[in-house]
Amino acid sequence: MDTKESFIADLKSKAVGNRKELFRFVCESLPKVNKHYNWVGIYVLKGQRLVLGMFHGEKTEHEIISLGDGLCSQAIVTNAIVNEPDVKGNSKYLACFPSTRSELVIPIRYDGVPIGELDLDSDKESAFSPEDEAFLTEVCSMIARRVNEIYEP
Ligand code: SME
Repeated sequence: MDTKESFIADLKSKAVGNRKELFRFVCESLPKVNKHYNWVGIYVLKGQRLVLGMFHGEKTEHEIISLGDGLCSQAIVTNAIVNEPDVKGNSKYLACFPSTRSELVIPIRYDGVPIGELDLDSDKESAFSPEDEAFLTEVCSMIARRVNEIYEP
């Protein structure tokens, strides 16, 4: 297992040529920080839709989500973290994997406005603590900063 600190240091220093490489690094590395991060994805806001830019874990049928649907939309529309300890008890939840019990969605913001989000699914109920929220909020700020640095015509 990696530590949160080593992941943050690696994310700061990692040389990436484009956004996909950055997103891949984040999605592949986070499950090594916490064994309860069973699925990690980054959705990018494109118009009125969330488009899955990268993921680590099983393939999902929800690669494109219309704004208004599910917990992923809720995080964008409210511009706030969604931490659902029991997905089976939330009627707004869009099911991806039968094993998922809890989900955490964190907006990735540029100038305070959501441009995408980090989405984590866990097979454990109530998997995400306030410490996870704080750590992953820092990760999202760093993703936004690095996305802004990467030139992509
Ligand atoms: N559960 C999400 C959909 C995306 S999957 O978790 C990969 C939602 O309710 O929006």
